[in-house]
Amino acid sequence: MPARAPIVVVGSGIAGLCTALAAAPRPVVLLSRKARGTDSASVLAQGGIAAAIGPGDSIESHVADTLAAGCGLNDVSRVRMLAAAAPAAIEWLQAQGVAFDHAEGTLKLGREGGHRFARIVHAGGDASGERISAALSAAVAVAAHVEWRSDVDVDALLMQGNRISGVRINAGGHAESIASPAVVLATGGIGALFARTTNPEAAEGSGLALAIAAGAEVRDLEFVQFHPTALDLDSHSLPLVTEALRGAGARLLDPDGKPIMEGLHALADLAPRDVVARRVWQVRKEQGAVMLDARNLDIDWPRAFPTVLATCLRHGLDPRRMAIPVTAAAHFHMGGIRTDGDGRSSIGGLYAVGEVACNGLHGANRLASNSLLECVVTGRRLGTHLGACMDSEAIEGRTQAMAIGSGLDAAELSLLGDTLWRTAGPLRCGAGLAEGLRMLEPLLARGWQARLACQLLLAASKRAHSIGAHWREDAENAVSVAAPIAA
Ligand code: SIN
Repeated sequence: MPARAPIVVVGSGIAGLCTALAAAPRPVVLLSRKARGTDSASVLAQGGIAAAIGPGDSIESHVADTLAAGCGLNDVSRVRMLAAAAPAAIEWLQAQGVAFDHAEGTLKLGREGGHRFARIVHAGGDASGERISAALSAAVAVAAHVEWRSDVDVDALLMQGNRISGVRINAGGHAESIASPAVVLATGGIGALFARTTNPEAAEGSGLALAIAAGAEVRDLEFVQFHPTALDLDSHSLPLVTEALRGAGARLLDPDGKPIMEGLHALADLAPRDVVARRVWQVRKEQGAVMLDARNLDIDWPRAFPTVLATCLRHGLDPRRMAIPVTAAAHFHMGGIRTDGDGRSSIGGLYAVGEVACNGLHGANRLASNSLLECVVTGRRLGTHLGACMDSEAIEGRTQAMAIGSGLDAAELSLLGDTLWRTAGPLRCGAGLAEGLRMLEPLLARGWQARLACQLLLAASKRAHSIGAHWREDAENAVSVAAPIAA
């Protein structure tokens, strides 16, 4: 292998794009499953990027809010690094051509759950993910050091000895190997394993499963964040109804029009996401529906919330005139491939960045709008590191393909989704988790998704107390979802 063999980056969401760009001039092969810029959760992100740049705000306050949301399970030094890097990340994105929204000549700052200050910048209102992805995709498309291959599935990590030496791909039915001393997984989360998710259909955790197949350490698999407000449709991958609407004053109501968050938390509808998601789940289960009332907001809908407006109208709902039916849905995986602050996994040559990685930043529950920020900051950091380092060790020995294996069929995936939703959703208990494991046992030999789901269920069974997004109704520290929580 030549001294500057290409880095392979798997996944073309914001984390993958930032890693690829920052590695210049080192050659990068960027692999994505679908057409450029269409197959990531990043594109669907409506929240923006959190940065302590507003009047009275501070890096320390951003850190404190991140730790409060994460219930203190966060790695504090990484949280500090992220919050401190946020203002420069915004500037860098602007230099890449991202036009963030302005008001009266300065960046417009919004609020989302768990933030004590208005500190979220958006681009194109709720189209932030799409705008940022488009600017970065355009930059990658003209970057001479990046070869971007789409319509490609990675079905195995290649190993020589105890380190990664490349990937095996399936491109249009043909198997091919790409040798590389550094493989970066930027494959996103696992939301699509659940029956209801805000993630794209493909977000089943294939990158995480590949890493597990190769023997990489994983952590915190039980920490899955449920978003409180997905549009309540009868389908699997649900449109998000951004939290920024609650930041602008929208309220969550029960079917009788009673506010469901009043008296529960000092931040009420803007309490951390796990708190609101559990309450939405409970009210929907007991009373049949939860509505988000955004009718009386003093906002320019087409400019501030074009995505929510268009999506609702497409489903016959005008949010300016009627309340929006919402449900909790699997949204973000705090757990994942164990990495250090530079994205290194436990296996030499294997790196992970973005949602598939778990570096301890988010603890037990991610703070809103910290995820795109993480993708930009840690992606650039990892890319810069890989671009600068030489391949020190010669890779020798027989090549072994550590394959993900076959996947479940549609009926099996649907059973798995329903099982996870019922037993490992926003409210969990030991008996339910055990039942989930029993239900999925027959699928273990059938597909990798079942093996991944069972690892999640096992991790959730082992953590017997409630913390953050992992809520055990049978825990010693259990309290009612409707009980007031000190902010
Ligand atoms: C949202 O817009 O509500 C989601 C933002 C996020 O996931 O951080």
